[in-house]
Amino acid sequence: MKVLVATDKPFAKVAVDGIRSVVEQAGMELALLEKYTDKKQLLEAVSDADAIIVRSDIIDAEVFAASSKLKIVVRAGAGFDNIQLDAATKANVCVMNTPGQNANAVAELAIGLMIYAVRNHFNGTSGTELRGKKLGIHACGNVGRNVARLAQGFGMTTYAYDAFCDAESIQGWGIIPVASAEELYKTCDVISLHIPATAETKNSINAALVGLMPKGGVLVNTARKEVIDEVSLINLMDDRRDLRYMTDIMPAAHATFVAKFPERYFATPKKMGAQTAEANINAGIAAAKQIVDFLQTGNDCFRVN
Ligand code: 3PG
Repeated sequence: MKVLVATDKPFAKVAVDGIRSVVEQAGMELALLEKYTDKKQLLEAVSDADAIIVRSDIIDAEVFAASSKLKIVVRAGAGFDNIQLDAATKANVCVMNTPGQNANAVAELAIGLMIYAVRNHFNGTSGTELRGKKLGIHACGNVGRNVARLAQGFGMTTYAYDAFCDAESIQGWGIIPVASAEELYKTCDVISLHIPATAETKNSINAALVGLMPKGGVLVNTARKEVIDEVSLINLMDDRRDLRYMTDIMPAAHATFVAKFPERYFATPKKMGAQTAEANINAGIAAAKQIVDFLQTGNDCFRVN
């Protein structure tokens, strides 16, 4: 059996070593395709693979058509919007993610982006502190809950809105639940986005919502760029000279944001929320173990299709 690690954005070496050891101890073979520049390389590499581990790599019908033996794809991470689930199901391929494994890493980056915003991009001028401010967690999954835990350590009051999560659960995590996204944005000085990119959420973060934030509001996005209505946000930031946008996913309109709002906008050059050795080890090894278990016993507990 052959397990392919296909990562445009490679794992730390220590994580690859760990994945290799799990795969080889199970009597399977590991193949590595990192930093590939052309989809053709992925199509070739997948042709004789029984399983693949990916990150944000696009796995679509073309990939399934190129792989005659493929049985499972594991997205080493949380969001699986990069994988065409219907095409996977048609090709009889199981798709899994590794929920929670990189959540702390993403949460730490979200806090880092908040500090970078309120300390004026470390430019030497007087900023503000997180302590005593209100943080709104928009979707209370693994990352959102980790952000709340860290923010509470900074002395922030944490609020959350999650369309799929009941108020009692949110309260149980020590977070104040609110009844709507509108109430969250109206209430909070900082909003941290943790919604997945779905048909319902795409373009849903717009001027009508962000414009509800109090003066000096900071929007932090470590989720997906697709959830932002970029044109609407740019227009809002033109009108509201106090609002700031910090993102770990470079918008399509990055150049416009930089040109218009150099002091109120920041984007990482490459999505790096999950780019830590620890997150790579956690997610990569979990993915390898899930593959071995699935191929050996049929256990499909983290299946998403
Ligand atoms: C995730 O969905 O797990 C995060 O967005 C991390 O994505 P990455 O593996 O591409 O860094």
